[in-house]
Amino acid sequence: MYSSSELDGQSKPSFYAMLVQEAEALLTGEHDRVANAANFAALVWQHVPSINWCGFYFFDGQELVVGPFQGRPACVRIALRQGVCGIAAATLETQLVVDVHAVPGHIVCDATSRSELVVPLRYDDGCLLGVWDVDAPVPGRFDAEDRQGMEKLLGVFLASLRY
Ligand code: SME
Repeated sequence: MYSSSELDGQSKPSFYAMLVQEAEALLTGEHDRVANAANFAALVWQHVPSINWCGFYFFDGQELVVGPFQGRPACVRIALRQGVCGIAAATLETQLVVDVHAVPGHIVCDATSRSELVVPLRYDDGCLLGVWDVDAPVPGRFDAEDRQGMEKLLGVFLASLRY
């Protein structure tokens, strides 16, 4: 876990509200998916404490393919239903994993990862765009406030892709 001092004394909701503003300033007006995904990953990496990987996997029509990210080099392709990312993509439900060691089939890209938050991303028509994956080197790093905050933050990314 991390202390509130790592968030400069802010509560998690106000920390994520600040990140939403920063993301809006960074992404609004630009519609390129790779450019905005790269800046989004860099923004989260810069500000969110106690994480060891964050990034996108985009759906190519068959499987997930790694996109812009920060952290150590990662697995390139993940089949639907495989690992935490594949489950999020197949079910279209956010996966909040307290301890990856307790998840059968978890894909070990970085052996230091111990907890994980994976949010599925959809186009306006409901079709799968991909997933956003954040990993932490400690168990129980993410809670419901992180989930809500990260989902709101991803709303800024998704909105930036619309013309
Ligand atoms: N651990 C993930 C794979 C992606 S990496 O962590 C970057 C999973 O099981 O889906």
